[in-house]
Amino acid sequence: MKLYQKLRTAVPRLVLSQEDEEEEEEEEEDADTPTPTGHSRLAPWWVGSGLLLSAVLLSAVTVWVLRQVSGGWHGPAPPSQCHQVPESHRFDCYPERSVVVTRELCEGRGCCFVETPPAVGGTRGVPWCFYPPDFPSYALQSLNQTALGMAGLLVRREKAYYPRDIGVLRLDVELETDTRLHVKITDAANPRYEVPLDVPRAKKRAENPIYSLDFSKDPFGLLLRRRDTGTVLLNTTVAPLIFADQFLQISTALPSRFLYGLGEHRSTLLHSLDWSTLTLWARDVSPTESFNLYGAHPFYLLLEEGGDAHGVFLLNSNAMEVALQPAPALTWRTIGGVLDFYIFLGPDPNAVIQQYQEVIGFPAMPPLWALGFHLCRWGYGSSNETWQTVRAMRNFQIPQDAQWNDIDYMDGYRDFTFDAQKFASLPSLVEDLHKHGQHYVMILDPGISSTSPRGSYWPFDEGLRRGLFINTTQGQPLIGQVWPGYTAFADFSNVDTRQWWLENLQRFHAHVPFDGVWIDMNEPSNFMDGSEEGCPPGELDSPPYTPAVLGDSLSAKTVCASAKQSASVHYNLHNLYGLMEAEATASALIQIRGKRPFVISRSTFPSQGRYSGHWLGDNRSQWKDMYYSIPGMLSFSLFGIPLVGADICGFSGSTSEELCTRWMQLGAFYPFSRNHNSQNEKAQDPTVFSPAARTAMKDVLLTRYSLLPFLYTLFHRAHVHGDTVARPLFFEFPQDTVTYGLDRQFLWGRSLLVTPVLEPGVDSVMGYFPRGVWYDFYTGSSVNSSGEMLKLSAPLEHLNLHLREGSILPTQKPGPTSKASRGNPLRLIVALSPGATAWGDLFWDDGESLDTFERGSYSYLVFNATENVFTSSVLHTSTEAASTTIGTLSIYGVREPPHKVLLNGQEKPFSYLDNQVLTVSGLGMGLGQAFSLQWL
Ligand code: NOJ
Repeated sequence: MKLYQKLRTAVPRLVLSQEDEEEEEEEEEDADTPTPTGHSRLAPWWVGSGLLLSAVLLSAVTVWVLRQVSGGWHGPAPPSQCHQVPESHRFDCYPERSVVVTRELCEGRGCCFVETPPAVGGTRGVPWCFYPPDFPSYALQSLNQTALGMAGLLVRREKAYYPRDIGVLRLDVELETDTRLHVKITDAANPRYEVPLDVPRAKKRAENPIYSLDFSKDPFGLLLRRRDTGTVLLNTTVAPLIFADQFLQISTALPSRFLYGLGEHRSTLLHSLDWSTLTLWARDVSPTESFNLYGAHPFYLLLEEGGDAHGVFLLNSNAMEVALQPAPALTWRTIGGVLDFYIFLGPDPNAVIQQYQEVIGFPAMPPLWALGFHLCRWGYGSSNETWQTVRAMRNFQIPQDAQWNDIDYMDGYRDFTFDAQKFASLPSLVEDLHKHGQHYVMILDPGISSTSPRGSYWPFDEGLRRGLFINTTQGQPLIGQVWPGYTAFADFSNVDTRQWWLENLQRFHAHVPFDGVWIDMNEPSNFMDGSEEGCPPGELDSPPYTPAVLGDSLSAKTVCASAKQSASVHYNLHNLYGLMEAEATASALIQIRGKRPFVISRSTFPSQGRYSGHWLGDNRSQWKDMYYSIPGMLSFSLFGIPLVGADICGFSGSTSEELCTRWMQLGAFYPFSRNHNSQNEKAQDPTVFSPAARTAMKDVLLTRYSLLPFLYTLFHRAHVHGDTVARPLFFEFPQDTVTYGLDRQFLWGRSLLVTPVLEPGVDSVMGYFPRGVWYDFYTGSSVNSSGEMLKLSAPLEHLNLHLREGSILPTQKPGPTSKASRGNPLRLIVALSPGATAWGDLFWDDGESLDTFERGSYSYLVFNATENVFTSSVLHTSTEAASTTIGTLSIYGVREPPHKVLLNGQEKPFSYLDNQVLTVSGLGMGLGQAFSLQWL
């Protein structure tokens, strides 16, 4: 303790103004007192002891002393310092994958070289070349108060090893809200690229932040703590800060190993911290573990010991990677832009995601039909063949809201055209869909054919005339290759391109009155690397450091990083391409249809939920792919894109009847539910299977349709509050550590538990049931779990669904479309808690008009059950409420058979079953009518 205090005074250290001196002293006294979470209050980093904390502080002193003596580059790290660093705490000083790191190269960077046997399985594992504790970093030179926090300068006296190292940085810290901190580090002298996200700005500094912040002065570092538990959430003193023009790196210790997010990747929901590297660079590739995939989401959520959660968002669009190591610790490495962090303190997971979405924007409210079942495939030979499928679906009365077409419909795979022979009947098909209350969605790609004879293809001619394509460094449209052959790529960062995109959509809509748009290939994908001419030499296409992207080059299967766009170079805009296209498409759809837009995009970036949903790309018809769709879907819930799903039954490869049946069951619970497959594969829509499989698929879709009022309400809550729709179990049970790794089950909202079968040849499934009473959704029978894995019967025709005690779900008699269903009476399912209480709500509107909530054209009802009384309270109502009624109440968990049931005081007939289910039908209560129902 004494040693610690001595060292502490020796270290130059600044304390934020919200920390008064008194508190400071108290902290020092309590420094090694374990907190309720078991952490030492000031020493989370070096494995739980004050001594190790001293080591961090000691290193600061050492650096300071060394600088006084040498005043410059301090040469190879002394071996004693190197051996003192535990393996798990080695921060990689030579992440370059293209180089075999030798002692010479490593020591040339002033780093420690210690050979270590490779990890089992041959992964990169423990770095051999790592930073010594005193590796030069920046020093905090000044810190002044600002309206929202403070601003300071960071100065590097010794150069690091990447070119154009920036000597003086500006640090801005803003205490934006009591639960949100904003930390930005950038070049003090020259502007750098910043992502144009309009984050709502705080007007005044947070008054009672639930966090506190300390700085280490030299080397500069930031320590962020949760005030009530003392848990250190960030500690950036663990490795040097590097800020060169094309290499920005900052590391932090993590308070636990429970880390989620950081997409887009194919992985388990809970990331492994055993030396894994997650790369973020939008890429068209069939999802494979460890590859960078279609979208980039530099956001993580971390569960702390004890169940609190926080989130960190790095607002940066450049190619980056995030290195994870078992310390536990994390390193952000990006090759451009600025270090612009938002930190969300929760304290529960749902609050973290809400706070994240306050920064990036809440997701759009989808039209109701978006939540119906969608059918698609690549390889419908004609519009008549497409129509045949729609008719077959109708014949079997299988619910379907939307029919889609892939690129087959186009003339020569060119956007905004349709094949006049094979797809001649497309306009009539769309008309027929509309007559049946169904909708039509077609694909569009951003690559615009550049080889049609001049004057014959307006999209290219006009785009060229107006200068709307991505250009080469020479100022000519960059030509790559996609389905139509040679193509130019629309530059959506240009406002004029958005206008041209709208005009193209309008012209096409005049012939084919589509309802929604599927935007594919928008990484953007290119069958060539860079362009038909490759890419020019230079530091944009060949940067000093290339993150671990697939293909080892930024231009692999996309356009050159040096390509010019209206807003910046592609190097900065690549990860934003899908976002910008989605924004342009959603806005065009609003102008064309005057209704809520429906857009599904392959590439995504934070804030995309405002404009589109997402599907998880080109999976395979394999059981493993079906499993991976759950962590994929749940990660997108974290990213603020709740409208998400995977290709049901698998995209490539041939599915089997068993796999497809199980997948339809799981997929009926994707928020975005679409069956899609690749060309040259057998059809896999529900109508092509045996009667038994077909019936199982139909039944589960009917179950989905019965739940549409509930699902729609969840989307409303996402839109207005930033709640998640499909939700990992740990969101609801953060105290229950068993839930932290669960990604074979999930919830809709807080209460509907989905336990799908993810394996062949079984008729049962194991599922975890957190403590409490859970009711079988279909029958109302209950199980009281003490927090157990339970074996559930799961014959092929059955999907296990359970209701959590204390919830009320609005359901509806299902029809063949959401339009047909929405006219049917509602049935409320009340799942009583052991204390006989329950809660639920319903948001209802016309299902498609713009901004109904914002304009007040909706109904919002709150349902409560207490003891033996159910009440429906109308908090808001509007005209369409009159046409919808609540017909039935099913109350699960009524322990004693009642003698009578009173609806608003009037006796009503009822039924009561041995499994404690009370049902009262024929209520006929309009949605606008408050009512109560009592059982005595
Ligand atoms: C790639 C998409 O991911 C896939 O869904 C689509 O079928 C093909 N492109 C063809 O358009």
